[in-house]
Amino acid sequence: MKKVVVTREMFDETIEYLEQHFLVVPNQSDRTIARDELIKMLHDADGIQSYSTDRVDDGLLAQCPAIKAVCNTAVGYNNIDVDACTRRGVMVTNTPGVLDDSVADYAIGLMIATCRRMSEGERYLRAREWKTTYLKQTLGKDVHGATIGIVGFGRIGQAIAKRARGFDMNILYYTRNRVAPDVEEQLDARYVSKEDLLGQSDIVMLILPYKPETHHFIGAPELARMKPSAVLINMARGGIVDDAALIEALRAGTIWSAGLDVYENEPRLNPGFLELENAVLSPHIASASESTRRAMAMTAAKNLVAALSGEQPPNLINPDYRNNLKG
Ligand code: GLV
Repeated sequence: MKKVVVTREMFDETIEYLEQHFLVVPNQSDRTIARDELIKMLHDADGIQSYSTDRVDDGLLAQCPAIKAVCNTAVGYNNIDVDACTRRGVMVTNTPGVLDDSVADYAIGLMIATCRRMSEGERYLRAREWKTTYLKQTLGKDVHGATIGIVGFGRIGQAIAKRARGFDMNILYYTRNRVAPDVEEQLDARYVSKEDLLGQSDIVMLILPYKPETHHFIGAPELARMKPSAVLINMARGGIVDDAALIEALRAGTIWSAGLDVYENEPRLNPGFLELENAVLSPHIASASESTRRAMAMTAAKNLVAALSGEQPPNLINPDYRNNLKG
């Protein structure tokens, strides 16, 4: 029977499903598995259901020669060295589609929370500082009618635009591949350059993938190009924003505020964030509705079953793995 390792706690139905097909090594207590231990667990495993906290690189693959598939329980897969997997004939899959609406809902929530200073208001109330209600209390920025600049206009970016229309927002977008005119028309979204998006948006919303080319896509020069009244929302991945530069910009008032769900080196985020009143911070939970996380877990498991049964997994990222199959 083929053996698979599941690195993080999963919903019971996912483990039960995998157990119908494989000898499963689960981690239902969700304890932290050190890299050396993970390598030991994987040395004779055929597949792995991984999570974004697992680093799957060439060094690991070299020591785990039986692995044929790495099935990530996330849409992003920057934790996996896909080129190394391809070179070694290992399939890589992700979980696109099932989380788009939940992430888009969260994007809108984080945008409103940031523009309307919701967590600052709650901190003030919990600190028992609320003595009276007054006209100029916790003044924020309106979301309705504002210009939103969405960077990355794939499924999630478009789902955010669809919601933004409901707030009568003026929608700009920038992405590597401009979308078809009928999609632009349907979403009432205007394609602009990165520079124009940064200069014209009241809210800059990042929802692009993290890769070497997008490392520090937003750094000091980009922040300087934004309006002093602008709000930056990063729901995509740590590393897309230069966190030190952002902290400096938030301190200096180069931009007004930021709403963040992802960070460089998370969960050990730059402590400078914690001192800022003008940042709304959440711990990488944009997709974390129960039904969506259940769907992500099952999607990854289905990819693993297909991959190890000789079928093409539905969400295969690296079809070129076939060119490097051994034997
Ligand atoms: C979450 O961050 C994901 O990539 O699914």
